[in-house]
Amino acid sequence: MVGKLNLQECFVSFFNKIIVAIVQLMPKAIVGFFSKRYIAGETLDEAVKLVKSLNNKGIYATIDVLGESVGNKEEALDAKNKALQVLDTIHKYNLLANLSVKPTQMGLNIDEDFAFQQICELTQKAKEISNFIRIDMEDSPYTDLTFKLLKRLREKFDNTGVVIQAYLKRSYDDVLMLNKIGTNYRLCKGIYIEPPAIAYKGKQEIRNNYLKILATILKAGNYIGIATHDEYLIKAAKKMINDLNIQKDKFEFQMLLGVREDLRNKINSEGYKIRIYVPFGKDWYAYSVRRLKENPQIAGYVFKSLFMINR
Ligand code: FDA
Repeated sequence: MVGKLNLQECFVSFFNKIIVAIVQLMPKAIVGFFSKRYIAGETLDEAVKLVKSLNNKGIYATIDVLGESVGNKEEALDAKNKALQVLDTIHKYNLLANLSVKPTQMGLNIDEDFAFQQICELTQKAKEISNFIRIDMEDSPYTDLTFKLLKRLREKFDNTGVVIQAYLKRSYDDVLMLNKIGTNYRLCKGIYIEPPAIAYKGKQEIRNNYLKILATILKAGNYIGIATHDEYLIKAAKKMINDLNIQKDKFEFQMLLGVREDLRNKINSEGYKIRIYVPFGKDWYAYSVRRLKENPQIAGYVFKSLFMINR
C-alpha cells in the first residue's frame, strides 16, 4: 500500500513538474480557464463586487489593476489613470481596501523620474482619501530602483510601503536599512525565478529567512503585512507575535485571491486582521502564469478537467 502511494505521489509530482514547465506554452484560453479563481474579473465593477463580499465578512482587500512592464509612457499613463479610478471607487463605496501597484506598470522600466511622479500622484490622491499605496516588488533588476523610489516617496508621504522578498539573500540587510527610515512592509517569499547566487532556493532556508526578517521588523515596531499561505510560517508568526506581545495595530495577515480560502477564513475567525490581494483587469496573463506555476495541485486540476471534458 505504502509503495503504491509513493508511486502515485511520484507520478503526480512528475506530472506537476511537466505541467509547470509547459504552462507558458499552453494556449491563452487554457491558462485563462485554470486561473479564473485568482482574478476578480476584467472590470472594476467585478472587483468592487468581490471586495464588497470580502468586506461583509470583515476581510480587507488590496486591489491591483493587472499589468506590468509597460511598453511606453502612454501605457503607463493609462495604468495610472486606472489606478486613480480605483482609489476614487474605494472612496465612493467606502471599501475596506487599499491599492497595490507594480513599479514597472507605472513606467519604472522606461524612466525612473517619470515613474516616481506617477506614483507620487497616486500616493497624494490616496493621502487625500486617507488611503494607502503598496508598492509591489518585482524581479531583481528592479529591487534597488524600487527601494530608491520608496525612499523618495517616504520623504513626502507616510501612506506608502514596500514588499520584501524572503528568498533574496540581501533582504535582511535591506530591512535593517529601511527600518531606519521607518516604513510599512509586506513580507512574502518571492515569486520570480532568481539565480542561486542572489536567492535562497531551499524551502526551509527561505522560511528561516522569512522568520528572521519578520522578527526584525516586529521588534523595530514597523507595521507588517505577513503575506503567506504557508501554515508553518503562519503558526510561527502567531507565536512570535504572542511572545513579543505585538499589538494588533502593528500587523495583518495577507493572502492572494483564490488561494487557501479555508485558511483565510480560519485566520479571520480567530480575530486577526486579514487582507486579500484582489487583482482585476484585461492584462491577466503574466499574473495567471505565475499563480498556476506555484499551485501544488495543478496536475490534479488538469486531470480532473480532462476527465470532466471527456464525460
Ligand atoms: P508556498 O508557495 O509554499 O505555498 C504554501 C501553500 O499555499 C501551498 O502548499 C499551497 O497549499 C498554497 N498555495 C500557494 N500558492 C498557490 C496557488 N497559486 N494555488 C493554489 N494553492 C497555492 N511576490 C513577489 O515577488 N512580489 C510581490 O509583491 C508579492 N506580493 C504578494 C502579495 C500577497 C498578498 C501574497 C499573499 C503574496 C505575494 N507574492 C508576491 C507572492 C509570494 O511571493 C509567493 O509567491 C506566494 O505567496 C506563495 O508563497 P507562500 O508563502 O504562500 O508559500
